[in-house]
Amino acid sequence: MANTMELEIFRYQPDKESEPSFQTYEVPFHKDWVVLDAINHIKDEIDGTLSYRWSCQMGVCGSCGIMVNGVPKLSCAVFLKDYYPKKIRVEPLTGFPVERDLIFEMDDFMTKLTEMQPYIIRKEGEEKPLEEGEYIQSPAELAHFKQYSMCINCMLCYAACPVYALDSTFIGPAAIALGQRYNMDSRDQGRDARQEVIASHEGIWECTFVGDCSRVCPKNVDPAGAIQQAKVSATKDWYHSVLVPWGKRNVKSR
Ligand code: FES
Repeated sequence: MANTMELEIFRYQPDKESEPSFQTYEVPFHKDWVVLDAINHIKDEIDGTLSYRWSCQMGVCGSCGIMVNGVPKLSCAVFLKDYYPKKIRVEPLTGFPVERDLIFEMDDFMTKLTEMQPYIIRKEGEEKPLEEGEYIQSPAELAHFKQYSMCINCMLCYAACPVYALDSTFIGPAAIALGQRYNMDSRDQGRDARQEVIASHEGIWECTFVGDCSRVCPKNVDPAGAIQQAKVSATKDWYHSVLVPWGKRNVKSR
């Protein structure tokens, strides 16, 4: 008889049930199966009512984020063999309202991403006509921000962030890293607009630099680093806009 494994899966339909429960399923164990393969097996062969998200099955789309034994993971990138023969507990990413089973609401994250204006902004009148060609960027300029552009918006960093768990108004790791990605892009001139969000009360100053966001990132992005860079940059803004003028005034009045 083939080896098997147990998956204990979070089940919840908030519109029909007063509280969540866990349901245990037995699945075949294959050493090349990822957790998503096991969940797909359950959906196809055992219980078609199970709801969850996935798309690319190759760690690119960012839609399959779940908690595996309490740790945020992409279900398509975590192998059963890393847990076998123990039972695996599967839950939706923490910190978000559950829509159904492993599916959670993404509205808050999408709103924050939109507020960050994650695209190249040129100042009015400074957009080059198309016939003048693209804005040239050197490899060194690209290297400056490239790692932040690898984010796949999987939201694992939010599920890992203790600040977001306590206060969901925090803009959060991925959105700030994305803002920093554009702020550091040599072609962009939209930093002033983004700083209103990044350096707001809900922005970088909420971060206590625990660093779990960077530890769980499946693409090796370092959002914690992006936030600390943004803190330095915002502090320089404050120095030049507040402290320097204040010093000059004081020197004159002596
Ligand atoms: Fe696309 Fe996992 S299914 S990242």
